[in-house]
Amino acid sequence: MENTLSLKQFLVNEQREGQAIDAHLIDLLDDVASACKEIHDAINHGALYGVLGSAESENIQGETQKKLDIMSNEMFIRCTESSGNLAGMASEEEEDVYSIPAQYPKGPYMMYFDPLDGSSNIDVNITVGSIFSIVKCPDGVTDPKLKDYLIPGTKQVCAGFTLYGPSTLMILTTGNGVKGFTLDPGTGVFKLTHNDIQIPQDTAEFAVNMSNQRFWEEPVQRYVQECIEGTSGSRDKNFNMRWVASMVGEVYRILTRGGIFMYPFDTKDPAKAGKLRLMYEANPMSFIVEQAGGVSSTGRERIMELNPTEIHQRVPVILGSKNEVDRVVSYHK
Ligand code: AHG
Ligand code: MN
Ligand code: MN
Repeated sequence: MENTLSLKQFLVNEQREGQAIDAHLIDLLDDVASACKEIHDAINHGALYGVLGSAESENIQGETQKKLDIMSNEMFIRCTESSGNLAGMASEEEEDVYSIPAQYPKGPYMMYFDPLDGSSNIDVNITVGSIFSIVKCPDGVTDPKLKDYLIPGTKQVCAGFTLYGPSTLMILTTGNGVKGFTLDPGTGVFKLTHNDIQIPQDTAEFAVNMSNQRFWEEPVQRYVQECIEGTSGSRDKNFNMRWVASMVGEVYRILTRGGIFMYPFDTKDPAKAGKLRLMYEANPMSFIVEQAGGVSSTGRERIMELNPTEIHQRVPVILGSKNEVDRVVSYHK
């Protein structure tokens, strides 16, 4: 593995080969990598650094924040705001979109991020991650306002997530396939270890929180019931089930060996169309999954084509291996 490219070397090569990557994007991803290394360090030290547990506060979405939710959010902002690559950002943990402070230069990109995904898993020492999505700031805009952020996921130029698991791994797409970079904890360098990640089109593994079953719509009820019936039912095939409760972990498993992940529409809370957030979770994961040959849908629409109306908007998510997601979508028709 000694001769593998670092994240930065890889991006510079891609730029030379004519991919839509400019110096600002390379520099921004370097800053994102720095934030992820700081988060990795905090998570790795856990109780030694006193970072576990609740912060006794709530975010705008009424969710109790963990100390690490707040710390990771601050690390993302601090590592990326001052380099002149961003015009602004939006975070799952911030009520309003974040303007770059006046003393810093403004850049051509806007970033959306979920600083810590799967935070219910922090205190039980199970994989968590950070998710990010990058778009171009509209021409002529230097201090983007809320309306500038409410654009469909098809506008993303880059999306990625970093998984803090047994090893720390950044998954990235700039619209030219999906790559994986493993953090070498000794040198602090993310190195290209996974070239051209592809999701198998077929799978016998599904992921869904079964405790919500009674709140699902009929198409999802039917699909999951058929998986459970296995060789005794119409599919004539046995399925296995997984639920990590960290979307980053589920999506990475699907990138590795296929599968279908669902946080579908449910009637549990009439105020929410689903649990996952469009701008910080669903859009970036959809871009990655599609770039790896998978499919991502609400069941009725392609997620990346949705026109957002709110920055913290929630959506139903059904993504993964093409043939299974297509099947669930067909059940919605
Ligand atoms: P977050 O920690 O950013 O709030 O996201 C958690 C999400 C997602 O990662 C996971 O798939 C889902 O919530 C798990 O939800 P349940 O606890 O309802 O299973
Ligand atoms: Mn999340
Ligand atoms: Mn989060």
